[in-house]
Amino acid sequence: MDPYTNWSATLKSFHDHFRRDLCRLIQEAESLKRKSPKPLLRSTAQYLSYLHTHHTIEDRRIFPFLARKMDVSGFAKDHKQLEKIMEKIEQTCEEEKRKGERCQEEETFDVEGFTKLLKELRDLVFPHMRLEEDLTAPEKMKSLFSPEEMRLMLS
Ligand SMILES: [Fe+2]
Repeated sequence: MDPYTNWSATLKSFHDHFRRDLCRLIQEAESLKRKSPKPLLRSTAQYLSYLHTHHTIEDRRIFPFLARKMDVSGFAKDHKQLEKIMEKIEQTCEEEKRKGERCQEEETFDVEGFTKLLKELRDLVFPHMRLEEDLTAPEKMKSLFSPEEMRLMLS
């Protein structure tokens, strides 16, 4: 596979995982009703930690590389906005965990509010990922970076 297609396929495959898992979390939240939110909160916290790692790799390695030849300031701004909403969701996960340790107050969990936050994240992160994919599509990258540069980015 040429490095342009390789990059594009790799990015898309990571993003597909994030898209699919977030849709699952939303579905799980929507069907929670009066069941314990603990498994949902655990999976969400795990999801957010993977997403943080993904952003950190992009911020530290990918964006500086792309910035040599394209304006990626919008991506970095998106990440900051995403981090804010991710922080809110994490705080909710933490608070619920603390509550759960003290007593079994599961019925007090605001599942609607939590679902709303997950949807807010989806509505921000989906277009962001799509834009990253579009702006680094093989045809665009071919006009800007040599195969050697691409290999370096991917290494
Ligand atoms: Fe990103």
